[in-house]
Amino acid sequence: MTDFKSDPRFAGIEAFEKKVWLSSPTMHGDEQHWVDDAIATNWVSTVGANINEVEKQIADYVGCQYAVALSAGTAALHLATKLAGERLYGQARPNEGTLQGHRVFCSDTTFDASINPVAYEDGEAVFIDTEYDTWNMCPEALEKAFSFYPDTRLIVVAHLYGTPGKLEEIRRIADRHGALIVEDAAESLGARYLLNGKWVETGTLGDFNCISFNGNKIITGSAGGMFLTDNLEDANKVRKWSTQSREAAPWYQHEEIGYNYRMSNIIAGIVRGQMPYLAEHIDQKRAIWERYEKGLADLPVRMNPWDREKSVPNFWLSCLIIDKDAMAPHVRGEQDELWTHEPGKSSPGEILAAIAAFNAEGRPVWKPMHMQPIYRTHAFITAEGNGRARSNAYIAGAGIDVGADIFRRGLCLPSDNKMTPAQQDRIIEIIHRCFA
Ligand SMILES: Cc1ncc(COP(=O)(O)O)c(C=O)c1O
Repeated sequence: MTDFKSDPRFAGIEAFEKKVWLSSPTMHGDEQHWVDDAIATNWVSTVGANINEVEKQIADYVGCQYAVALSAGTAALHLATKLAGERLYGQARPNEGTLQGHRVFCSDTTFDASINPVAYEDGEAVFIDTEYDTWNMCPEALEKAFSFYPDTRLIVVAHLYGTPGKLEEIRRIADRHGALIVEDAAESLGARYLLNGKWVETGTLGDFNCISFNGNKIITGSAGGMFLTDNLEDANKVRKWSTQSREAAPWYQHEEIGYNYRMSNIIAGIVRGQMPYLAEHIDQKRAIWERYEKGLADLPVRMNPWDREKSVPNFWLSCLIIDKDAMAPHVRGEQDELWTHEPGKSSPGEILAAIAAFNAEGRPVWKPMHMQPIYRTHAFITAEGNGRARSNAYIAGAGIDVGADIFRRGLCLPSDNKMTPAQQDRIIEIIHRCFA
């Protein structure tokens, strides 16, 4: 470990006076107007004009029939997953989840909110390895998973860091096996994908689709999320579940379990104020990704990849991955890590520590779900087959594990759309000095 400020490799580099964030909210003023409007008209509740308006605007933007505004992306994912379970296996008893006794194939390199709802609904997540082309679910591994568990009927798939996954291939596999798809587009609002020759938005690619307005997302409400669908019955069901499943009786009457998951009209006001700036935010994030790509081109690293023919990401987070032979030693425990420097090499640990020392925020690549202590006993399927228990004391080689490899060699760079080119150049310079 290094004291970067006194390390001669970093001589002459000044710390940022104001922290450069990974991805922080960017307000424009319109947000205040719609929040004030909600307060002035006393719609300080989970009903109001802001909610109605943002539902309409998002549905128009992504090109779906119905958007249901909810308290969080996680709430949207929970209700989407529950709906999928009910469609596949019928209504559950009030004290049981809809996926009880059933496996669900899940993206592995993602935030745990994508896949925790499978557990909320008593299902068993089976993790599908990642592919190098887009850092998303590997279709080959998914196909393999159906050979192990042919009865599986649900797939939860996320688009990591705003880069669309291979949904055309995944949809083809799902259809062949009669499976439904929950799409987690929390990180990818505004990203587009060429599906069967037609450009469509992420958030329309699954049977049940979700987005997030968390504070770090491409646009934010401080919190909030949405369920997106073309199916009126599904939209109505999610609307009902999100408002405590109240029936049309003069008293509180309930025929099914409910949740308090509806979006607040205040939060919807912030989202409403952000909507006109979505395209601008995407342009800024793209410029950041491209500036990193150019600025780091002479180093033994590559940027997070995307399919240039079949997708246009929203470039939410810029990331890099270090070439295998340029990795300096870096080991991670459960909650701590140790790295050392070697000339001409570096590691995510060193780069993130260096960036932090100069007052900027990066982050490790999301740790794959199959490596998380909570899910360590769950199955993990790679393109080769069973991804568990492949190591051997006597024979070299432990099989491929793409997610673990990207986690080991990758990191998320400061990607805030308020970062100036000069600030970004300083971060690029710090990364260069890491490899000195
Ligand atoms: C991939 C992914 N899924 C789900 C979520 C959960 O969204 P929320 O924070 O709005 O609940 C997030 C981020 O927060 C995410 O990055």
